[in-house]
Amino acid sequence: MTTRRLIEMKRRGEKIAMLTAYDYTMARILDQAGVDVLLVGDSAANVMAGYATTLPITLDQMIYHAQSVMRGVQRALVVVDMPFGTYQGNSKQALASAIRIMKETGAEAVKMEGGAEIRESIERILCAGIPVMGHLGLTPQSINKFGTYSVRAREEAEAEKLLADARMLDEIGCFGIVLEKIPAALTARVTEAISIPVIGIGAGNAADGQVLVTQDMLGLNDGFAPRFLRRYGHLGEEISNSVSHYIIDVKSCDFPNEKEQY
Ligand code: KIV
Repeated sequence: MTTRRLIEMKRRGEKIAMLTAYDYTMARILDQAGVDVLLVGDSAANVMAGYATTLPITLDQMIYHAQSVMRGVQRALVVVDMPFGTYQGNSKQALASAIRIMKETGAEAVKMEGGAEIRESIERILCAGIPVMGHLGLTPQSINKFGTYSVRAREEAEAEKLLADARMLDEIGCFGIVLEKIPAALTARVTEAISIPVIGIGAGNAADGQVLVTQDMLGLNDGFAPRFLRRYGHLGEEISNSVSHYIIDVKSCDFPNEKEQY
C-alpha cells in the first residue's frame, strides 16, 4: 500500500479501512486481515499506557511502538503520529522529529494535528520527502484548549476554518486527512472539496475511509462507548473468561495434563 494508491482509491470511490496498532502481535493480525492503513496513534498514551490524554507520550515511546508495528506488517501503509510537543515549536524541530520517525522506524508517513497554525512545519517536512497526513476537527492534543471531547465545528465559523484548513492541506501536498468527531454534513463538504482521501472517525460515512482505535472496536475497553463506536468483538470478555478458566485449571491441578508435559 502506498500514499499514491490511497489517492487512487479515493478517485475510484473505493473506501479505505484504517485501524490503530501499537505492537507487533496486533499489527501482524490486522495486516494479515487486509487493513489498508495502520496508524501508530498517539492514542497509545491512553490505550497502552493508561494516561487520561495523549499529551504525555514521548517521541522515543512513539518510535518504540512504530518499530514494533513495522516488524509485523507486510502490506499496510504505516502512518506514525507525531506526539505533542515535537512539532508545534518550530518547523526545524518538526523536521528533526519527523526524520527520527522515518529513519528509526521505517514507517511510510507521519500524521500531524492542526491546520494553518502548523503549515510551516508541514511544508518543511513535505519538502524533505516525508508524506504527511493531516488531522482536523477534534484534535486530542488540544484537549486542554477545547476543554471537552464533544463534537467540533458545529458552528459555522469553525466549520469554515476547518474547510479552509483541509483545502490548504490538500494544496500543499498532504496525502490524506483524518477528520475526527465533526458533523457528517461537514465531512461530506470537505470530502467533496478536496482531492486527497478523508478518513473519518465519528465523522459520518461520506468520508473516503474510516479509522477506529483497534482496542475500542474489539471490545477491550468497555468504559469507552461513544456513539460513533461500533464494537466488532467482545475480546475483553473473552480474555477474562479464558483467564478464569486457566486459573481454575491450575488450582485444580488439571493443567498441565500428561500430554502437556515432557
Ligand atoms: O491517535 C489516534 O488513535 C488517532 C485516531 C483517533 C485517528 O489519531
